Amino acid sequence: MLSLENVTVTFNAGTPNEVRALRDLSLQVDKGEFVTVIGSNGAGKSTLFNVISGAVPPAAGRIVLDGDDITYMPEYRRSHAIGRVFQDPRLGTCPGLTIRENLSLAAIHGRSASFRRDVKKEQESWFIEQLEREHLGLERRLDADVALLSGGQRQAVTLVMATLTQPQLLLLDEHTAALDPNAAEQVINLTQQLASSQELSVVMITHSMQQACVLGDRVIMMDQGRIVFEIAGEERKNLQPADLIERFHSLDSGAELSDRQLLG
Ligand SMILES: Nc1ncnc2c1ncn2[C@@H]1O[C@H](COP(=O)(O)OP(=O)(O)O)[C@@H](O)[C@H]1O
Ligand SMILES: [Mg+2]
Repeated sequence: MLSLENVTVTFNAGTPNEVRALRDLSLQVDKGEFVTVIGSNGAGKSTLFNVISGAVPPAAGRIVLDGDDITYMPEYRRSHAIGRVFQDPRLGTCPGLTIRENLSLAAIHGRSASFRRDVKKEQESWFIEQLEREHLGLERRLDADVALLSGGQRQAVTLVMATLTQPQLLLLDEHTAALDPNAAEQVINLTQQLASSQELSVVMITHSMQQACVLGDRVIMMDQGRIVFEIAGEERKNLQPADLIERFHSLDSGAELSDRQLLG
């Protein structure tokens, strides 16, 4: 479904501030697969998402999404195929607009006028159905300004909006890190529900070793722009946060995990 082949991203190339944020990185994600990504601060996790979504160009390598070479495709042309949710609940929705208005914007995103007319109603009922399942009470607040919602409610709306146009790939960048534990759990439940009902391919960056162990099919550890190990299959089944921390320390890379990662 998604394939990165030997992708390198360099910032400020040829200057004293040169940063090699991704180094010859290769990654394959299958259709319907759910991959979690962990790693120290500055490991290159968000840059990985930026290069997949087209916000940052690669200096070398190739990116293929569902058979199409998208390496140099502009960001706006691939955005309908890639849903993305960030850590900050304010980034995914537009304040001053209601849930319903935000929803309309998401529904027409990247679509033709005739498509817009045909599917809007259908999408609204699908959207409400998704929100109802998590019992967040949002389906009754469709005409409320999103600025009045809690962080968790806003992330839930963002998540459903990001999957509304049935993207092939969903990229989640620590999307529960700013939420309290209860809200985080609800947003995670919604994430799993959306991923499995739509057979989405999901890549989720998380600061939580616990989330990395419990969610998805495969864990990837990044360090200094590289994937330093992957855990899948049998080994993944009984994986504990302590195992991940031990594997990380045995790398002896000099990078440190934050307290939040060690305790969270
Ligand atoms: N736009 C940019 N310009 C210059 N350096 C950047 C830019 N984006 C990221 N970096 C650098 O690239 C490295 C990887 O950053 P990032 O991908 O944000 O790490 P992570 O998400 O794992 O914390 C860091 O050293 C960061 O400072
Ligand atoms: Mg990041």
